[in-house]
Amino acid sequence: MATSYRFILCSLLLSLVSYQTLATTSSQPKALVIPVTKDTSTLQYTTQIKQRTPLVPIKLAIDVGGIFLWVDCESGYVSSSYRPVSCDSQICKASGSGACVTECYSPPGPGCNNNTCSQMPSNPFTHSGGSGEMASDATVIQSTDGKTVGKAFTVPGVVFTCGSTWLLEGLSAGALGIAGLGRSEVSLPVQFASAFKIPKKFALCLSSSSSSNGVIFFGNGPYQFLPNVEVSKSLMYTPLILNPVSTAGSYFEGDPSTDYFINLTSIKINGKAIPLNATLLNIIDGNGGTKISTVNPYTVMETSIFKAFVKVFRQEAKNLTKVSSVKPFKYCFSNNKTPYTRVGPAVPIIDLVMHSSSVYWRIFGANSMVQVKEDVICLGFVDGGSDPRTSIVIGGYQLEDNLVQIDLEKARLGFSSSLLFKQTTCSNFNFTSTA
Ligand SMILES: *[C@@H]1O[C@H](CO)[C@@H](O)[C@H](O)[C@H]1NC(C)=O
Ligand SMILES: *[C@@H]1O[C@H](CO)[C@@H](O)[C@H](O)[C@H]1NC(C)=O
Ligand SMILES: *[C@@H]1O[C@H](CO)[C@@H](O)[C@H](O)[C@H]1NC(C)=O
Ligand SMILES: *[C@@H]1O[C@H](CO)[C@@H](O)[C@H](O)[C@H]1NC(C)=O
Ligand SMILES: *[C@@H]1O[C@H](CO)[C@@H](O)[C@H](O)[C@H]1NC(C)=O
Repeated sequence: MATSYRFILCSLLLSLVSYQTLATTSSQPKALVIPVTKDTSTLQYTTQIKQRTPLVPIKLAIDVGGIFLWVDCESGYVSSSYRPVSCDSQICKASGSGACVTECYSPPGPGCNNNTCSQMPSNPFTHSGGSGEMASDATVIQSTDGKTVGKAFTVPGVVFTCGSTWLLEGLSAGALGIAGLGRSEVSLPVQFASAFKIPKKFALCLSSSSSSNGVIFFGNGPYQFLPNVEVSKSLMYTPLILNPVSTAGSYFEGDPSTDYFINLTSIKINGKAIPLNATLLNIIDGNGGTKISTVNPYTVMETSIFKAFVKVFRQEAKNLTKVSSVKPFKYCFSNNKTPYTRVGPAVPIIDLVMHSSSVYWRIFGANSMVQVKEDVICLGFVDGGSDPRTSIVIGGYQLEDNLVQIDLEKARLGFSSSLLFKQTTCSNFNFTSTA
């Protein structure tokens, strides 16, 4: 016993020593961070990264379920570190590409090279898609200790797809592409993880305000918000579910969906389960199920679910005065006498119940009601019609001021519920750097 104890102690010391050597000799970041801005005119969430040589700041719309990063290569792309991805490369195969551009007959340059991996960039906001070559280029990203912003690091070759200028249509003004954070081998979280040997994990915290930034962390926590609120230890988790059929606008046959699906099993309002067709909550031949989205500004529900949902909400919110609807919402209420709490207007509480009855995502007034006029608030959920591809799409408004962690290694989604309860918000990450 003594021997084995000594052996354990010895290997423990050894691993401590090697860990310290690593820590002191490498200046690798433990986590990375980017700001997220809400654009009030399009209701898109955008970020900015620096790419190319010389570096250019690039504004991008965020698609949490997007397969990869794509940027417009057609207008003014100049970079000495641009490298096309060849058809026979590992990364081309890993991206699920089913095509190769053997010969391109436009003038050679970013977006037009021979023997280059071909992919399908798409714009989920306008449901349009095209094709473009895969390439890599230098990208700069800020490190973090989870509390403040640290030094910037360069990844020499972040792989992305070239889009066309017309594909930018419908994106927030000035955006040059889409940052895909989806469940793929080529999304930004996966590439950052392999570049810096950090976990394949990221946390999204969308700000409800367009004047102060939310944040995305790549890698492990802490995820700390002012004043000293650490969120990473108080998450609830539910497994990520793989949808075997792509949900993108354009894709290669056989590619699975890169969206993050979760096992929502019921919806409760003030503790009362709403009657719904459980078949719609399962994924069958790629249809149905529940996913999260930064593309839909509000949660969208299949018609029968939406109707049952608003019916029970209305029953539970008897003391609210209904007023005429304001698009895109159906149920609006007078805001004159509604009391306010720390978590928004005092309205019935919505629980999205996951794989187990003890795991639920609780939604309070701040995330369920949208103020559309000074004295009118509307239930911020919309009717998705009778035959949508995905039955429930949890949209941006319901994600705001909640931290959502995607752990690709453990294939699970963690959620914090409203940070307002913890007396902070997603815009309280300290982006003020010392540098
Ligand atoms: C690709 O190869 C073809 C045939 O050799 C050539 O005509 C064409 O100019 C090349 N395109 C580029 C972009 O280099
Ligand atoms: C439940 O939804 C499935 C899938 O859309 C449909 O085929 C079925 O008829 C529905 N059941 C009821 C009772 O409406
Ligand atoms: C409506 O009732 C709920 C609880 O039943 C209460 O918390 C809320 O303050 C009431 N709202 C109004 C406008 O009276
Ligand atoms: C979802 O959760 C329910 C209840 O725990 C379980 O029976 C079902 O198999 C789960 N579905 C998937 C796709 O994991
Ligand atoms: C934010 O971080 C900076 C740099 O670490 C620090 O100087 C500053 O005091 C922090 N701000 C607050 C409000 O804690």
